Amino acid sequence: MKINIREEIKNIREDIYYYRRDFHQNPELSFQEYRTAQTIEKHLNSFGIKYKKNIGKTGIVGELNFGDGPTIALRADMDALPIQEVSDLDYKSKNNGVMHACGHDGHMAILLGAAKVLSQNRLITKGKVRFIFQPAEEGGGGARYMIEDGCLDGVDEIYGLHLWNYQPLGEVGVKDGPIMASADIFDIIIRGKGGHGATPQGTIDAVVVASHLISMLQTIVSRNTNPLENTVVSIGKINGGQNFNIIADTVELSGTTRAYTDQNRNMIKTRMEDIIKGVAEAFNAEIILNYKEGYPPTINHEIPTENILNAASDVVGKGAGFPYLSMGGEDFSYYLQNIPGCFFFVGSAPDKKNILSTPHHCSHFNINERALLVGASIYINLIENILG
Ligand code: NI
Repeated sequence: MKINIREEIKNIREDIYYYRRDFHQNPELSFQEYRTAQTIEKHLNSFGIKYKKNIGKTGIVGELNFGDGPTIALRADMDALPIQEVSDLDYKSKNNGVMHACGHDGHMAILLGAAKVLSQNRLITKGKVRFIFQPAEEGGGGARYMIEDGCLDGVDEIYGLHLWNYQPLGEVGVKDGPIMASADIFDIIIRGKGGHGATPQGTIDAVVVASHLISMLQTIVSRNTNPLENTVVSIGKINGGQNFNIIADTVELSGTTRAYTDQNRNMIKTRMEDIIKGVAEAFNAEIILNYKEGYPPTINHEIPTENILNAASDVVGKGAGFPYLSMGGEDFSYYLQNIPGCFFFVGSAPDKKNILSTPHHCSHFNINERALLVGASIYINLIENILG
């Protein structure tokens, strides 16, 4: 399959690779993207693009103004992860224990590449392009702070992408409606009554309570969810007990839930509360649920999704916009709760035969850098189609 990179993007290919490698070498955690923001400012200055800084704490919002017409926003996230990079790359992370292990370095490079091309070529005849560099996607909900600071004011449509190592180069994943899930977090504390392992009578064994509870929580997905819809309830952490012959008085659990609709999201929470109440009663234990709402589901809008399909098919060919979904969470969802837009995936697996070799959030994560050119070309096509 042939990939059609825009000529303007080909011409600045080395710049785009440089942007990404520079960010990769200097990763910063959520809301600490100070050097990152300075670097973005430097590049926007060199393109002659006006911007505001300290939006949403460490975010930057740039804008190209071509007069009357729609305002289209393109968004890149800026933050890295608390992971020690394991790699031989000459642009490997210089910051101990911090790594761009999700590809946000690439998202910024794509957006800067698009900004450079749009500022230097006469492709736009009307309207405005807003470049949103957003901090703290990895759990901090930076999008909400950006919105509070007015980054969406006057914006008609917003677009964002994620480099995606679960798909090979040349594939673009997009669909109308839900594309990523809600991502809520919960902690559960089970309090029973300890005692000697040989005399369980009179105790309330928190380990036994926990095992029943864990099994019962699995029925939310298997028995309460419509089998044609998708939900996840995962318990990732369990902690309790002191010794083999001591009955545990406390067990703590932590986990996450995922859903594509508010209805299922609420259903999961209500069922968790009901099950916990029932199990606590059955065992005469005390069970406390601390349920924290994370990012809402990311729900694409119809016309913007068509716009991405059109823009992408000129780059990777018709039919490349496969209807991809992920149960991952994304704070781009907050933008889509406010205005129309579309979030999509750009295949970036470095190894076509073994696309699971470098998953996101792993210590040897890396991308196929040509995916940067694919992403930037899609953005240029999109803006030209709407504002050309
Ligand atoms: Ni990410």
